[in-house]
This record gives sequence, structure tokens and C-alpha cells, in this order.
Amino acid sequence: MSEDFKKAAAIAAMSEVRSGMRLGLGTGSTARHFVDMIGAEVARGLEVLCIPTSEATAAQARELGIALATLEDCPELDLTVDGADEIGPGLALIKGGGGALLREKIVAAASARMVVIADASKRVPVLGSYPLPIEVNHFGLGATHRRIEQVMASAGAEGGLRRRTTSAGLPLVTDGGHGILDASFGRIRDPEALSNALLDIPGVVQHGLFIGLCRKAYVAGPAGVEIVDAATPLI
Ligand code: A5P
Repeated sequence: MSEDFKKAAAIAAMSEVRSGMRLGLGTGSTARHFVDMIGAEVARGLEVLCIPTSEATAAQARELGIALATLEDCPELDLTVDGADEIGPGLALIKGGGGALLREKIVAAASARMVVIADASKRVPVLGSYPLPIEVNHFGLGATHRRIEQVMASAGAEGGLRRRTTSAGLPLVTDGGHGILDASFGRIRDPEALSNALLDIPGVVQHGLFIGLCRKAYVAGPAGVEIVDAATPLI
């Protein structure tokens, strides 16, 4: 069922795409549907130049014959379409459940507009039920871990901090060669203050709070696809 909703959201976001666009392609199971649809349209003649947000998305796009570029060749994009783990008030997001948060944020920030596609379970009145992914440098990991725990304590976190591992139990390594720590807050009362506090820690490469980046979300549920913008009332 949720797979149908993810697909419905991706179909709705296709209305944003025009020939000639430079397009950021997101990562994750919802973005995967969108990339499939772009591939199908490219086969019918749509001309877009795409920047993928992960090696996984790049591989999918290549297989579909989608023209790819890098932000070196193409530093300004028209639109990025990506999934999210949580969509909170003001379209603040938690992202990075798939481990691609650093590239996702770089690509979103290089885009004139970022649009999110998601099933309705992702919409929350307050961010933080989903553990916040924090991408960290391997050097000094113990010290970084400790500093993040201190930030979590000051922010009233209800849970702990865990290093993300692969299904084989090995520490996960991101496309950028870093690790990920998942921080369980329960409720993030002040996303902006938390963002600043985390970025003040030298070993933190980036975190999965996306604030002020997303302009619109296509959120699909049993009642259809809702278009959510920053002014849409809370659920
Ligand atoms: C990838 O790192 C993430 O930011 C995804 O966009 C996010 O986890 C949503 O993924 P799903 O569409 O698979 O839920």
C-alpha cells in the first residue's frame, strides 16, 4: 500500500518537470519511482540533464539511459525531487535514512527548488520520532560521539546515539567515505538551534535536518495526493 502511495507522489511530481531542465535526482524507495518515471519519459524524448544524489541513484539512472552530469559541470539546478523520512512544520525535513544526506543536501542547496515526494506516514507535527542521521568523519569518532551526546542532552533527547551498521553488521560507510550516527531525539523542539549546535562540532560533516530547503511536498495517502507548502496547517 505505502508503495502505491510513494508511486502516486512520484507521478504527481512529474508535473514539475519540463524539457531542458537540470534536475537533481533523490535517493530512496520513493525517489526510485520518480527516477523510473524520468527514465520512461527520456525514452519518449524528454531532454533533461540530471545530477544524482547517490551512487545507487546514479546506477539506476545510467541503466535507464538518463543523461548525467556533476555539479562541477552544472553547478545550478532548476529542480530537485527527493524523498524524506519526516516532513515537519514549515516543510522542515529529516532525511538520510538511506545514508545519502550529504549529497542530497548539497544537490538540494544547488537547486532553485526542492520538491519532496512521500507517503502520508512521513508527515509529522513535530520532527524527531525518526532518528536523526548525522554524517561524521571517522577521525576522532569517539570525541565526536561524545560531543553529539552532549548536544543531545541539552536538546532534551529522549533516546541515545547509535553508529549505523550494514546488514552484515559492519560500520556503514557513506558514498563520501564517512560514518553515520543515528540520534534518537523523540522530539526536536528547535530544529534550527539543533542544526547549528551539530554543525559546530568539527567531526560532524553534515546532518539530516533540511531547514528552509524544501518548497513543496507531494504527500500521497488514502485520500489522494495532497500538495503541502510551508503555509499548510499542521496535521
Ligand atoms: C536517503 O538518504 C534519504 O534521505 C531518503 O530520501 C529518505 O530516507 C526517504 O527514503 P524512502 O523514500 O525510502 O522512505
